Amino acid sequence: MMRIVVLTGGATAERAVAFASASQIVAALRSRGHSVSVVDTVSGPLDDAAERAQLGGVVGTAPPADGPDLEARERRLLSERLAELDAVRRADVVFLAVHGGVGENGTLQALLDVIGVPYTGSGPLASALAMDKDLAKRLFRATGVPVPAWFMAPVAPEDVTTALGWPVIVKPSKQGSSVGLTLVKKAQDLDAAVTLAARYDDEVMAEQFIPGRELTVGVLGDVPLPVGEIVPKHELFDYETKYTPGMSDETFPARIETLLARQLQEYALMAHRALKLGGYSRVDFRVSPEGDIFCLEANSLPGMTRTSLFPQAAQAAGIAFPELCERIARLARNNEAGARE
Ligand SMILES: Nc1ncnc2c1ncn2[C@@H]1O[C@H](COP(=O)(O)OP(=O)(O)O)[C@@H](O)[C@H]1O
Ligand SMILES: [Mg+2]
Repeated sequence: MMRIVVLTGGATAERAVAFASASQIVAALRSRGHSVSVVDTVSGPLDDAAERAQLGGVVGTAPPADGPDLEARERRLLSERLAELDAVRRADVVFLAVHGGVGENGTLQALLDVIGVPYTGSGPLASALAMDKDLAKRLFRATGVPVPAWFMAPVAPEDVTTALGWPVIVKPSKQGSSVGLTLVKKAQDLDAAVTLAARYDDEVMAEQFIPGRELTVGVLGDVPLPVGEIVPKHELFDYETKYTPGMSDETFPARIETLLARQLQEYALMAHRALKLGGYSRVDFRVSPEGDIFCLEANSLPGMTRTSLFPQAAQAAGIAFPELCERIARLARNNEAGARE
């Protein structure tokens, strides 16, 4: 039996998704006999009633703790209270059920390192690298994982024409959930797309568009899970298709040739190791009509609702959701033992 704090909420647009993940993680871990309490990074520890109110809701309805100043409140909670919370001090593991923002970019991980409590997933460096698509792709390329060509903004339309070709994908370097991302088909539309992406990050990239299939590979421990294929109802796997049920078809294991699947799994593991990710991650790929593989990014805190991609991949490997949550929690303990060496 482990004493586990599920740390959730966050002050990002993905707050509702985080609560959805947390609610299922909490139930799963309790079903395996663990002692679980829930802490919201904005409002603090949730008692039974608050837990029911926050975690029982449907994604999309605003949880009661929501309001203005989410970020300021989260900063105060994390800097002034987190280390002092009884539940955190007594925890064997902090299970991170947050997405984006300080929860995913390594800041929260560094704070938990200072507090000295083990947590799930990756450490501060790997988390920050995975969040930065520019640095991540340089490391992927250096290890031999193929990536689409790209420029960082400002980028001249002539350079796109000669080095990337149209269309291009313009996206913020350090964002998620396809926010601020545009498919740009002609030179005249480049500036507007860069301006949009710049609302979310001071670094923006223009990346070669890879037509074809969308595939994703989870890594658990040091083992790649079965490949999954995503067929979004839109041209891209955008915010709406990611979070609206029924807006994408997801197949685990993907119906692809064994050789291609093996190659994707090998690249996923290489990408996971290139960023020194820990515990678990999910690596996103495109495969062109010619069969060429391109790695887009690695996610250090993949979505963890029962129907999220990573749990679907685990299920395809015969790992049911409660067992998956428990394994992720146990990997956190090992990480910490490793870090102490
Ligand atoms: N270079 C690209 N070629 C084709 N599609 C892309 C490309 N970059 C992003 N996309 C589409 O946009 C989605 C989100 O992009 P991604 O780089 O994974 O960022 P994030 O998921 O962090 O927002 C991808 O799943 C894919 O559908
Ligand atoms: Mg992605």
